[in-house]
Amino acid sequence: MSTTDDDVRRGGDLSAVLRAARTRLAAAGVPSPAVDADLLAAGVLGLGLGELRAASLRGTALTADQAGRLAALVTRREAREPLQHLLGRAPFRGLELLVGPGVFVPRPETETTAGLAVRAAERVVASGRAPLVVDLCTGSGAVALAVAAEVPAARVVAVELDPGAHAWARRNLDAHPAGERVRLVLGDATSAEVLAELDGTADVVASNPPYVPPGAVPREPEVRDHDPALALWGGGEDGLLVPRGVVARAAALLRPGGLVVVEHAEVQGEALRQLLAPPQWDGAATHDDPGGRPRATSAHRAQPAAACAPPGSGASQ
Ligand SMILES: C[S@@+](CC[C@H](N)C(=O)[O-])C[C@H]1O[C@@H](n2cnc3c(N)ncnc32)[C@H](O)[C@@H]1O
Repeated sequence: MSTTDDDVRRGGDLSAVLRAARTRLAAAGVPSPAVDADLLAAGVLGLGLGELRAASLRGTALTADQAGRLAALVTRREAREPLQHLLGRAPFRGLELLVGPGVFVPRPETETTAGLAVRAAERVVASGRAPLVVDLCTGSGAVALAVAAEVPAARVVAVELDPGAHAWARRNLDAHPAGERVRLVLGDATSAEVLAELDGTADVVASNPPYVPPGAVPREPEVRDHDPALALWGGGEDGLLVPRGVVARAAALLRPGGLVVVEHAEVQGEALRQLLAPPQWDGAATHDDPGGRPRATSAHRAQPAAACAPPGSGASQ
C-alpha cells in the first residue's frame, strides 16, 4: 500500500494518520519511523507519548491545522532533516537541550562521557572540595550543563570555537537554572592562551571533540548534511588533530590526579590510550557506551616527578 502526503494532510482519525506517517518515513529509510512519527505527532498535538497513544486508541481526530502541520514535518523528516531539529530539542541525561541548524545534536553515547565527568566531580565533592570541571568543545553545552545540574557544588567552564554553536550553548545555559554555574567561553579549546588562568587547577576536563578522519564521510544524511563541519572533522590524517590539542590543553589545565575524559570513534581507543600514556598520564582506560562500543578514554594527570631530594635526607631514588 502506498501512502502519500495527502494521507497525512487529510487528517481525520489519529491512528490512520500515524500509520500513514510511519509508512512514509519507513519508505524514506528513516531508521526509527514509528518513534519519529509518534514524536512529531505528539509535538504537534502538545501531548506526551502516553497521551498520544491513548488519544489514538480513543479514535481522536486531528483538526485540519494539526494535520497540515504534521504533514509538513513528515515531509521534512522524509528528506532526512534530523528529528531533533524538527522538534527543536534533544534529550541528554535528563535535560532537554535546545538544538537546531548550526549546532551538533548531542548523542546518547556522550552521556557516557558526561557520566564519567560527573562521577569524578562527585569524588572531589566527597573529599571536601568544590570541583572545577572544564568542558572543551562544548557545542550545545550538553556535557557542561549535565555536570552543573548533577553536581551542584561544581564550578564549570565550557569552551566553544564556533560562534553559531556558542550561541546555542548560551541559549541552553540561560534556559536551565544550573546554567548559572557554567562560564561559557568563545575560543579555541586547543590554544594555550584560552583559560590559561586556570592551568593546574581543574579537577576534570571532559571533551567530545570533532574526530572524524578525512574520507570517513558519515553515511547518515542527518549527520552528513546537518551537523556542522567544525563538529565532525577532527583534522590531520587520522582525525585526531583537535583531540591531540585537547589532550595537550587538559595536561596543562588539570591538577595532579585530575581526570581527563575524551570521546572518540570506536577505532580510535588505542590511539587515545597511547596519547594518554605515562609519564604525563596514569591509568588510561577506554569505556564502552550503553551500546557496548568503546567510545571514551580517560586517564589521570600524573603527579609531577618528585624534586631531587637533598643529600642526606634519606630519600631513596
Ligand atoms: C562533536 S561536537 C560535540 C559537541 C558537544 N560536546 C556534544 O557532545 O554534544 C564538537 C564541538 O567542538 C567544536 N570545536 C571544534 N573545534 C574546536 C576547537 N578547536 N575549540 C573549541 N571548540 C571546537 C565544534 O564547533 C563542535 O561544537
